[in-house]
Amino acid sequence: MKKYEMGKVREIKSLAPGIFDMKVECTLSEYALPGQFAMLYPKSASTLLPRPISICEVEKGALRFVFRVAGKGTKEFSGYSAGDEIRVMGPIGNGYPLDAAKGRKAVLLGGGIGVPPILELARQLSEKESDVTVIPGYRDSNMFLKEDFEKYAKTLVATEDGSFGTKGNVMDAIRENGIKPDVIYACGPMPMLKAIKKYAEENGIEAYISLEERMACGVGACLGCVVKTKEPDHHSHVNNTRICTEGPVFEAREVEI
Ligand SMILES: Cc1cc2nc3c(=O)[nH]c(=O)nc-3n(C[C@H](O)[C@H](O)[C@H](O)COP(=O)(O)OP(=O)(O)OC[C@H]3O[C@@H](n4cnc5c(N)ncnc54)[C@H](O)[C@@H]3O)c2cc1C
Ligand code: FES
Repeated sequence: MKKYEMGKVREIKSLAPGIFDMKVECTLSEYALPGQFAMLYPKSASTLLPRPISICEVEKGALRFVFRVAGKGTKEFSGYSAGDEIRVMGPIGNGYPLDAAKGRKAVLLGGGIGVPPILELARQLSEKESDVTVIPGYRDSNMFLKEDFEKYAKTLVATEDGSFGTKGNVMDAIRENGIKPDVIYACGPMPMLKAIKKYAEENGIEAYISLEERMACGVGACLGCVVKTKEPDHHSHVNNTRICTEGPVFEAREVEI
């Protein structure tokens, strides 16, 4: 059930250069799921549209968002202080299927600003399952949320410049550590998701990937966020689906990326 609400910033801090951690008090937190996202509304009149930001963690009475300053909207959010009001709409999307990891080796992969949505997933999966490994991938040693992952699951790290953990990306870390996942959950840039889809298909692994696309409405109305699918949609009979309503999480085999 999606809901519009005026939230209140509980806490905001910087985690790394250009990366902010903002906790927003709102009742959406009562039913938000890992992998879902919310639309956050900037106040400035020059920013018409809300900004989609993933749910990083669910706390009692608040949602945690970790975002990178990309343009006007996220720049505005980064200047907020505790006590400021922020309009939110959500939770949106399907989220990651937790049951797919039942009794299996689950590997969670996050790349760059795709790292935050896998934190709540790591927390919830580790409460139910014993074999959970998380691999966040960063550009360099400006790592964020690493200690948070370590509280919940076995955590390996990949950095592109080799300053920490495996040198390279999350797929290099899988190979270097000889990890054989039964199920993969991932969020990150498109080249990373394409590599995961290929690896999963070649090795017969179930993989759930969270896709990102520019979004205007976030409620399925503008068709601004479509992605090609393998099978035709049973309503429209075309090979397209909307990331905001049918996603953002898809089984990798379902989508053509
Ligand atoms: C499902 C989903 C989850 C996301 N989760 C996160 C997250 O947890 N943390 C984070 O830092 N970023 C996340 N993003 C990306 C984030 O939405 C954009 O960085 C943000 O909208 C940029 O807004 P801006 O005003 O700062 O930039 P501008 O470039 O000024 O934005 C202009 C317009 O383009 C849209 N836009 C620009 N870049 C993106 C983008 N990459 N994706 C979607 N819309 C975009 C904006 O929403 C806005 O409407 C997510 C995107 C999606 C689709
Ligand atoms: S953002 Fe409008 S349909 Fe998805």
